[in-house]
Amino acid sequence: MSESYPFRFGGVVSTVIFRGELPRIGEILQREGQDFIVICDEHTEFLARRLASPSFEPFSPLVLPSGEENKNWEAVERILREAARRGLGRDGLFIGIGGGIITDLSAFAASIYMRGAGLVLIPTTLLAMVDAAIGGKTGFDLGGLKNFAGSFYPASAVFIVPETLEGLPEREWKSGMAELIKTAVLDWDPSALDKLEELDKLEEIEGQSGPALFKSSRLKEALAGAVRIKGALVEADPKETGTKRALLNLGHSFGHALESAAGLGKLTHGEAVAWGMARSCELGLELGFTPAERARKITGLLERGGYEIRVPHPAAPDKERFMEALSGDKKKRGGLLRFVVPGKKGAELVEYDSRVQSYLEVTFG
Ligand SMILES: NC(=O)c1ccc[n+]([C@@H]2O[C@H](COP(=O)([O-])OP(=O)(O)OC[C@H]3O[C@@H](n4cnc5c(N)ncnc54)[C@H](O)[C@@H]3O)[C@@H](O)[C@H]2O)c1
Repeated sequence: MSESYPFRFGGVVSTVIFRGELPRIGEILQREGQDFIVICDEHTEFLARRLASPSFEPFSPLVLPSGEENKNWEAVERILREAARRGLGRDGLFIGIGGGIITDLSAFAASIYMRGAGLVLIPTTLLAMVDAAIGGKTGFDLGGLKNFAGSFYPASAVFIVPETLEGLPEREWKSGMAELIKTAVLDWDPSALDKLEELDKLEEIEGQSGPALFKSSRLKEALAGAVRIKGALVEADPKETGTKRALLNLGHSFGHALESAAGLGKLTHGEAVAWGMARSCELGLELGFTPAERARKITGLLERGGYEIRVPHPAAPDKERFMEALSGDKKKRGGLLRFVVPGKKGAELVEYDSRVQSYLEVTFG
């Protein structure tokens, strides 16, 4: 099985490739003849080692510690120093294999190594497949601020290998599913949401659940749909200077504020985004952008997925703290608080105004 989705990022072409086996990818990469460094964490080292087919020269991956608290400059420096120690030139290749933390760190390090080395990413969480590894955003956390430093540096190739999801912890799976739901909402084709409902039914009928669904062709279809949507929005607005890429923030203004109010690391990104999407549906209904039927469908999917969508969220019961975090998010965005809400099709960008304010007052007052 191999399908490719190329998209343009400015003058660069980044190709997302669906492929079946890691050893085959190892062979392909080795055939390029470049020096390389493979970067992973302790949970993805076993996958990194699978890249070594019998014909692939032996290598030892650089294993970084997992966790958001380790997404820092020290990790970037370790990658840079290790690449230098191994004698990689500017034509060397950085291969990041892991979740969004590893793909963000590897991509950032590649972007500054000798002013830009080669980059290939192999995302191994659903979230990284759908979101983090695609679209060229890289970065690390600094001084407690998430993704404070970073660059735009798309990988020349992103290999999506569904079998890597086999042992993904259930909670990480759910985190990625929330982003998959978000991307389906952004799709102008309304059947994208129906396909996710079918995935739900598959869980009920076949007793398959969570990561075990990696074998399902429906999941591959949903993943391919998400890649196509993200690729199209990034291609239209690579550095988020316009209004297209911002649509990917559906559920994120509310979600980021919830993450901060709960304390960083308490909730997964997807749990926060799911809760944020439920708020976006309410706001969209209130403003007349979101048809009631569509809002019901989206919140139904979230409820069946087992996400907490009540107000207040039990992890952040203090509404005042939530509102403070929401205005903190506004500062980060240059004083502009914008929300993305589901539309009749796809989604709409909504500027802050008195109607938004009254929704916030009623809901969080
Ligand atoms: N660059 C972007 O556009 C973008 C977009 C969204 C999120 N992100 C970033 O992505 C990060 C979150 O990514 P994530 O949710 O993938 O988290 P993560 O990278 O922390 O991975 C989650 C956990 O799963 C483990 N893991 C990864 N793959 C596994 C596998 N196949 N089997 C078993 N365990 C596995 C990891 O070691 C980790 O413990 C955040 O830092 C966020 O800022 C970036």
